Amino acid sequence: MSYYQPGILATPVPAQARHLFFALESVEALPQALDSLLNQVDGKSAVVGFGESLVKALNVQIDGLRSFPALTGVGVENPSTQHALWVWLHGVDRGELLNRCNALEAALAPALRLVEMQEAFRHKDGHDLTGYEDGTENPHDEAAIAAALQSAGTDGMVGGSFAAIQQWQHDLKGFHKLSSEDKDNIMGRRLSDNEEIDDAPVSAHVKRTAQESFAPEAFVVRRSMPWIEGDRAGLMFLAFGFSLDAFEAQLRRMSGLEDGITDGLYRISRPITGGYYWCPPLKDGHLDLRALRVG
Ligand code: HEM
Repeated sequence: MSYYQPGILATPVPAQARHLFFALESVEALPQALDSLLNQVDGKSAVVGFGESLVKALNVQIDGLRSFPALTGVGVENPSTQHALWVWLHGVDRGELLNRCNALEAALAPALRLVEMQEAFRHKDGHDLTGYEDGTENPHDEAAIAAALQSAGTDGMVGGSFAAIQQWQHDLKGFHKLSSEDKDNIMGRRLSDNEEIDDAPVSAHVKRTAQESFAPEAFVVRRSMPWIEGDRAGLMFLAFGFSLDAFEAQLRRMSGLEDGITDGLYRISRPITGGYYWCPPLKDGHLDLRALRVG
């Protein structure tokens, strides 16, 4: 039986998904809502993460959990749109996800109110809408477990994970006006064969984020998925780590805060949201909320 929410490490990302963000409306009604959460969420078809404000409302502390920082970089902004609770619904059918979303919304009311919802989907076999393959350098198997899950700590902490979520909005029309060479140099990989370009500029995305180039090394497990809404589109970037530090180090370097050089990605995409969440482990098939002194 899994000691972590298996939806975190499941590959490939689901065909369809919904990201739900809830605000806390009533602390008094919270025990009942958490009860419903325990009954309805298996960590597999729905992954759950707690924001710092919700943990504070429970009068406890999760070491390493903080709110997403509004990170101002060199000519670029990373906004913070932190919420109390995040649920990542996995599925294959948009209609079924709509119904599950409505059921969860009803089950968590009146304590928690759904304030943001974003549908996402798998493009081809895990591509970004720019056409580039996303997730190539993700750690697998034991390495994924080591990167994404907490391996030590008090009761209710082992198997937990920290999620960083940023919704990026692409300028796809602008991107497709660029030459193939410019596009490849923004990513640092070739679209044609997904090979890394050794002499790509230092601003290239995979040069900025090369996980082993950080001290300490900054490995994360990415589970990003494209989104489309009307004529807007982009990537729901999602990364899991045993702490939030690896993601934050990557984002700081992408934003030019290490050496003044910003990631080429900001030429064609901008983050419009940002949140940090702690995903509790599982025990006997249910969310293990002992660290929150619940259950
Ligand atoms: C518009 C948003 C983004 C897009 C389209 C994007 C796309 C990509 C692509 C195509 C790759 C190369 C293949 C791979 O290894 O997955 C990549 C690698 C990577 N990206 Fe992103 N990414 C985005 C945002 C971010 C953000 C915000 C972070 C972290 C702060 C990040 C972290 C990474 C990491 C760690 C790698 C692997 C680097 C390595 O070790 O080689 N990405 N991304």
